[in-house]
Amino acid sequence: NWQHEQVLHAAEKYVRTTVGDKDHVLCALSGGVDSSVVATLLTKILGADRVHCVFVNNGLLRLNEFDTVMQAYKTLGLNVIGVDAEETFLTALKGLSDPEKKRKKIGELFIQIFEETIKKQLSSYQDKIKFLAQGTLYPDVIESVSSSGGSVTIKSHHNVGGLPEKMNLKLVEPVRNLFKDEVRRLGEDLGLPHEFISRHPFPGPGLAIRVLGEVTKEKLDVMRKADDIYIKALRRENLYEKIWQAFCVLLPVQTVGVQGDGRTYENVLALRAVTSVDGMTADWYDFETKFLKSISNEITNQVRGVNRVVYDITSKPPATIEWE
Ligand code: XMP
Repeated sequence: NWQHEQVLHAAEKYVRTTVGDKDHVLCALSGGVDSSVVATLLTKILGADRVHCVFVNNGLLRLNEFDTVMQAYKTLGLNVIGVDAEETFLTALKGLSDPEKKRKKIGELFIQIFEETIKKQLSSYQDKIKFLAQGTLYPDVIESVSSSGGSVTIKSHHNVGGLPEKMNLKLVEPVRNLFKDEVRRLGEDLGLPHEFISRHPFPGPGLAIRVLGEVTKEKLDVMRKADDIYIKALRRENLYEKIWQAFCVLLPVQTVGVQGDGRTYENVLALRAVTSVDGMTADWYDFETKFLKSISNEITNQVRGVNRVVYDITSKPPATIEWE
């Protein structure tokens, strides 16, 4: 299809005119569609030896996600270094409960880890790495333009912001003129597996903004279990691809329950599912009651630490997609 070819051609032309013949590129992978498409595109154009990808396990990923995604990256032929920084992140997040403070801390740590990785594992390329690749999309461009125009910034989204200036890197953003669906199509043309392309968007700060308040390993583990059950149920019922984003939110609220013959006092878990085109506005997804009933049973039966499940019936606006 000529439209696909045009998108690919334009991206290729942009990369070739932006990145010099001898320059290397650092590519921060998040496990999401955008950064994976960018990394695959750059690798196709510049070759794997000039595109150094880094994927950080910040301890804030979904169940088994780091290993699964690392494997997928390798299968795609990406030149990727996996960094396990779970301890560093969880230790640094101790005591923080304000969403923006959590985001800021996570952003700082990403920068620190990238710097360390360049110094340690990529030291022989240090002088050649001149660019940082980012999977910035068109809606991100609009959002940051409108927020830098003096209006209120609702959330600080760009988790690797600050890295390019600090490390003297220039930005290469080959999908900044595209919407999410166009990036997905480009990814398909580049041969990324459908299962990967259709993944829901996932925020840079990961589960840290879905465990409301202070983040601990215990809470994250509860969340990961519930989230896994929820996502698997959506796939089983063929609902996953009808939804833009679905996830659990662990509330810092305990309520009384009765399980077996005992009284419990455990956390509330909220389920969120929305449809959207670009994440700027969103509608809550109208599940059948049957699905809600069974998912609530599954979660409360299998996840210790949760005795009540609620479903979020708020669109964006007035709410945002994430709770923090
Ligand atoms: P909100 O919650 O603002 O989210 O309606 C819109 C989209 O952006 C994602 N999101 C983030 N992505 N860093 C990210 O990389 C963040 O801090 C962040 N906060 C929200 C959210 O998941 C949704 O897709």
